[in-house]
Amino acid sequence: MPGKVILGAQWGDEGKGKFIDIFAAQADLVVRSQGGNNAGHTVVVDGVKYKLQLIPSGILYPECTNVIGPGVVVDPRNILKEIDTLAEQGVSADKLFIDARCHCILPWHLELDALSEKARGGDDIGTTKKGIGPTYMDKSERIGVRMHDFVGERFETAMREACERKNKVIVGVYGGEPIDIEAVLAEYRTYADRLRKYVTDTSIMTWNAVKEGKFVLFEGAQGTLLDLDMGTYPYVTSSHPVAGGCCIGSGVGPTAITDVMGIFKSYTTRVGKGPFPTELFDETGDYIRNAGGEFGTVTGRPRRTGWFDAVIARYTIRVNGLTEMVINKIDPLRGLDKLKVCVAYDYKGERITEFPANFADLADCTPIYEEFEGFDEDITNCRSFDELPKSVQNYIRELERICGCKVTMLGVGPARDQVMNI
Ligand code: GDP
Ligand code: IMO
Ligand code: MG
Repeated sequence: MPGKVILGAQWGDEGKGKFIDIFAAQADLVVRSQGGNNAGHTVVVDGVKYKLQLIPSGILYPECTNVIGPGVVVDPRNILKEIDTLAEQGVSADKLFIDARCHCILPWHLELDALSEKARGGDDIGTTKKGIGPTYMDKSERIGVRMHDFVGERFETAMREACERKNKVIVGVYGGEPIDIEAVLAEYRTYADRLRKYVTDTSIMTWNAVKEGKFVLFEGAQGTLLDLDMGTYPYVTSSHPVAGGCCIGSGVGPTAITDVMGIFKSYTTRVGKGPFPTELFDETGDYIRNAGGEFGTVTGRPRRTGWFDAVIARYTIRVNGLTEMVINKIDPLRGLDKLKVCVAYDYKGERITEFPANFADLADCTPIYEEFEGFDEDITNCRSFDELPKSVQNYIRELERICGCKVTMLGVGPARDQVMNI
């Protein structure tokens, strides 16, 4: 049985949630391995919208085991809110497990995320302000509060030590207001009590599922170009959304993975700051943003929008070892005369086909486009490749040719069934 990774192959929000949900129907275990509630995955089932941030998308299937792996950072307040919201929608969290090694996102991390972004002035990263970066910083510095401490006997000691240390930074470095630890302890003790039953060593569960030949789904969050190493640094997140991150963050080795599916939109979007070669600043950009509903699930920010970038696609195929591509959200391109695909960059007069390691070089890269015929038909009810207009079929085949990787599925609408195999 497969160990399948489904990950974002652009800058996030490619529609991973929908595909993870589809494969979760057959999966025995779904595991998140990085990031935190900076992720926002929308899954639409029978017209009902489920907005998941931290909880794996397999939660919508009662038989599926859902694991938050050791590499994930967990905001106790936020995850409980998510559990409660799902309960109101009739979804049980009985089969949810959180690894004891997960680091907790605590009030000082939220404060420091906001303060450090503000201190960067106009040069901010545009984070989701969910405390992700500061929590991973504490993890690297080896001073973080892990779940086993949070729900265990060290709760008060660990929280007091961390708060004291961080107040020195909040007050001393940023001139902010110190956090009142007594109020935090009172509030967070209730969260610790509620979360205790979910906390365990999930690496054993994931390994056992792999060993028993079960279908394990590694649920990606964010996207390859937001990877701390392989993304457009420093405009990235603080974790590893690439395929390799799934092993580190779930606590199983790479032999557990049999295939890696990369989700792409048929165009490109990004939220937050940083370079974006094919970004459109004209009415075509507005058209795609509105047609695709490109407004952030987590922050509500309008997403920056541009044409499909095959230089990026080839890069993400390489750094993730993708075995298959999915082209999602084709329907929003309806009504455009021409569809453009960036096949290379013009870098100071030279044609380059590799994505530069230094993001600053991207500022000097101008996209070189190939143009393809657009389509006017409503494709949201198409369920097979043959039903699609010829120009859409051609666009997909051209993407396959330009990127050098097979396309196995397409998405033509937000609902679970608005997909097709090809
Ligand atoms: P994720 O973070 O990768 O899971 O993606 P998001 O949920 O943040 O963003 C994708 C958005 O597009 C959501 O609002 C989805 O409901 C929606 N969506 C997903 N697939 C399609 C599609 O094929 N067509 C359209 N029009 N919308 C889609
Ligand atoms: P999903 O899983 C899109 C972006 C933020 C910002 C940068 C750093 O829904 O695809 P952070 O708060 O992580 O420190 O912010 O990363 N970002 C995302 N963009 N989709 C996401 O997740 C993202 N998670 C973080 O906008 O540019
Ligand atoms: Mg999202």
